[in-house]
Order: sequence, then C-alpha cells, then structure tokens
Amino acid sequence: MKKLFFLIFCLIISGCQSRQSLYTEKQQEILRDADVLDYAENSCEQVTTLQMMLDEGAFEKEYIEDYCRMELTSSKHVNFLLDQGLNDEDVIGFSTIPYFRDENITRYLEADGSYEERVLKVNMNMDLEPFETTSYVSDFSDMTLLVNKFNALPEGYVPDDMVDVKYVCVQGVDYSCTTMDQVVLRQEAEEAFERFVESALEEKGISIVAIAAYRSYQYQKDLYNYYLPIYGQERTDQYYARPGQSEHNSGLAVDITFDHIRYTDIESHEAYPWILENMHRFGFILRYPEDKQKITRYGYESWHLRYVGVEAATTMYENNWCLEEYLARK
Ligand code: DAL
Ligand code: ZN
Repeated sequence: MKKLFFLIFCLIISGCQSRQSLYTEKQQEILRDADVLDYAENSCEQVTTLQMMLDEGAFEKEYIEDYCRMELTSSKHVNFLLDQGLNDEDVIGFSTIPYFRDENITRYLEADGSYEERVLKVNMNMDLEPFETTSYVSDFSDMTLLVNKFNALPEGYVPDDMVDVKYVCVQGVDYSCTTMDQVVLRQEAEEAFERFVESALEEKGISIVAIAAYRSYQYQKDLYNYYLPIYGQERTDQYYARPGQSEHNSGLAVDITFDHIRYTDIESHEAYPWILENMHRFGFILRYPEDKQKITRYGYESWHLRYVGVEAATTMYENNWCLEEYLARK
C-alpha cells in the first residue's frame, strides 16, 4: 500500500528520479526521439556542445559522438568552418586548439604537422616569406605589441610618452658608444630599465648602459639604406629592420653593453648569463635569440632587449618562447 502511494506521488510531481538529467525537458525530448538519451546522459564529455546543438536546432543524430568531443561555442561556427572546406575530422581537431584563428583557416589547411603545430606555425607567419603581408600595430598601450617583418608601426607613429634614459653610454668612455642624440624610451620601459641596471650593479657588479633605444622612422630608413649597398639585401634584412618594422621605432627596445666593452662581445663575458637569467624580472626579453632565428627572421643579437612587461617576460622566460611564440598562443 505504501509503495503504491509513493508511485502515485511520484507520477503527480514527476520527480523521484535517481539523478537529475543533464538536459532540459526539451533537449531530453529530442534525444529520446533520436534514441540517444542514454548515451547523452552517460557518455558525453562535452555536454555543453551537445546542449548548444540541441538548442540551436542543429542537432543531427549521426554526429552525436562528434558533438560530445568538441569544445565549441556555436553551431554557426561549426557551419562556418565546414563552409571553409574543413571536414568533420578537421573541425574536431582544430576545435581543441584555443588559439585557432578563423582568418587563418585556408593557411592552416595548407600547413603540415599536427593540428596544434599547424595553428602555431601559421599564427607566427612561418608559412610566409618575410614582408609577404603587412599588418599595422594599432594598440600602442599593449607592451607586447608585435613589430617584425609582418607587423609594422604606422609611418607617422612617434610614441607620446618617451623620457630620457638615465643609464646611457658615454662617447670616448664606452667602446660602442656612437650615439649623438639624447637616448629615449617609453616611460614604462625606461623605469623598468633603471631597475634592471641598478639590480645588475647590486647583484652582479656590472654597469649596464644603453647604446641605442628609440629611433625615428627616418633614422631607421637612413640606417637601412646605408647598409644596403654595403651588405646587400639578404644580409641587411637579416640584421637591420626596414623603417616602421624596427622595434627601435616603438620606443620599447634598447641595445645594451656593460663595463665599457664592445657590445658584440657581451655574450662572452662571465656576467652575461646573469642578464639572460634575470632580465625577465624587470620585464625584458632577448628579442633575437640564436635558437629562434627561423621564427624571428632576424640574425642573433645578444644586445637587443625588448620591454614587454614582467608578466609576459616571465611567461616567455619560463617556456623559452620568443615574442612570436608567446603571441601565437593568444
Ligand atoms: N637590429 C634590429 C633588427 C633593428 O634594426 O631593429
Ligand atoms: Zn637593437
């Protein structure tokens, strides 16, 4: 008698289920009609993707296992990807890469490697020849802004927050000092550079100085054009940025030396490893490392530091990423 009452009670309030369903009544109805409710309740890993497909009326029974593996945000996006020529396997493969960029789809499909390798390579323009495309920097408040052979500063750009660099070389005292102009950097970078120089003196006993920092568009143009007939196109492009494509135009790069030695000799000094191991604490990275030339597309420069901020510099240091590798994952 008690059992009968319980059954009737359950029927009236339609509850008393052993566990709450993962789906709404409406979603359950569609799944039940397709005979896959049990699978959806017990074996689906990406419930939100399946729910989205159901809510957007995009659910098709034959793809249920795929939906249950994909991390996607909308069925429109899936359809967009399919329209771009991706097959079901590609949609699933690429959808697990968080830094997949819709605008690069065609290039991802042409690249080789795993899904992740293809996305990273293309995001770093490693599938292109230098200068093949040019994008222009627009967010100057971002200290990780990218200036390279594919990303330029607009021609008229002059940072509006530059200040004099405190620790600069002195002609006749520092071997590599050729600068005639006042050396300037963007304020945040300059303040970080001061902290870096002062800590280097305190912790390692070396006196770091800037030998070059901000350079104007015109200065970079003259520099590039000066070396072009001397070194030829290939070598000039390996060591000198074209105007607008130099980090020195951004006011965030600084070339250094220390203890009066020639700037190209600093890497052989016993204190140099300290610089490599510590500059991230102040927000700096070595912008053109020897082992990243295929990515940066520049020759190794032991003296060219770039300010990116402490957080980004630390992430790059910890992962041994150059700036392109860091930004490709955003
Ligand atoms: N030497 C670096 C690449 C520049 O010219 O900006
Ligand atoms: Zn430099």
